[in-house]
Amino acid sequence: MSDWVRACALDDCPPGKLLGMQCGEAEICVVNAEGTFYAFENRCSHQDFPLSEGAIEDGTLECALHGARFDLETGRAVALPAIRPVRTYAVEVRDGAVYVEV
Ligand code: FES
Repeated sequence: MSDWVRACALDDCPPGKLLGMQCGEAEICVVNAEGTFYAFENRCSHQDFPLSEGAIEDGTLECALHGARFDLETGRAVALPAIRPVRTYAVEVRDGAVYVEV
């Protein structure tokens, strides 16, 4: 069963920002890509580095440790050294806050 959990205020995650946080049981990385929000498990599928330390690059989420990239929509690995996807979560913006379904 899943729950919608308030992740952060909209103002805490301006465009271009990645924010790591605990959401219920899950470690989440919330990404604001030009006003569209995404949420991922905050753990690179290569060597578990926090994705919230990374950056948005060419429409992908780039891990800061070895440069693997993940599709923002699907979490699919699109650049080595990662080959496995990262888990994604549904995101909703309402009442000035970002909610994640965990
Ligand atoms: S830990 Fe992310 S690319 Fe290696």
